[in-house]
Amino acid sequence: MIGRARRRLVAGNWKMHTTYAEALELAEQIRRTCSEVTEVEVALLPPFPWIVPLAERLQGSAIILGAQNCSAYEQGAYTGEVSACMIAPFCRYVIVGHSERRRLFGETDDVVAAKVSVALRHGLRPILCVGELLEEREAGATLDVIERQLRMACAPLSADTCRELVIAYEPVWAIGTGRAALPLDAQLVSAWIRRWLVERFGAVATDIRILYGGSVTAQNAPAFFAEPAIDGALVGGASLNAEQFCAIVRAASRVETGSLQ
Ligand code: 13P
Repeated sequence: MIGRARRRLVAGNWKMHTTYAEALELAEQIRRTCSEVTEVEVALLPPFPWIVPLAERLQGSAIILGAQNCSAYEQGAYTGEVSACMIAPFCRYVIVGHSERRRLFGETDDVVAAKVSVALRHGLRPILCVGELLEEREAGATLDVIERQLRMACAPLSADTCRELVIAYEPVWAIGTGRAALPLDAQLVSAWIRRWLVERFGAVATDIRILYGGSVTAQNAPAFFAEPAIDGALVGGASLNAEQFCAIVRAASRVETGSLQ
């Protein structure tokens, strides 16, 4: 069996959940429960105020941190914003373009592109979320929507910097609904995304990881990880439970696929 060229990534997006005490406890449980898994990269994406205390507590463990968002601006008079520069000392990743930010906070493709740019400037790896609404899927527009989101968000990237990117395919109708995509559908979209990336950036784009997100659970995770174009998961609800989350991490460590697509 051929080893994977792309290391799997399982990232837990805690969204706006957890008190301070719950965050410390959850991170500690995950650190303990996931400690034996080394082949998979495990990232926690807690709310902003918990990033620094968790960075201190997770020192020496393999678990890394990311942020759920960052400002499109470098710095300045932007009340309430958190800049890429502020989170960069503590985080490896930052989510950009999550559908909740696009839908509830009016983030346009231009704003998402600006965030990709500012994240890269500060050495953060953007986890770029793309995905279609239910009505777009039903209208047969899934790939058109994803093509637009990719084209706009990737505008600041070159063949040299594209490797820093992680893509998360998150169909909006699957997020928080308990209705995950079919693994084969997620595979087909992810393989299409890969072809788009390789066309845009060349062979280096085979290094970019493509995650699936949307109602991932310990039960359905193995079926997603068995698909060759899926390199990991962006987990919402199930990442708030250490047992569930670590079961997903273990599932990612078990599956080996010989061919990468
Ligand atoms: P759920 O896993 O709760 O569906 O959330 C997915 C998600 O939005 C991760 O970013």
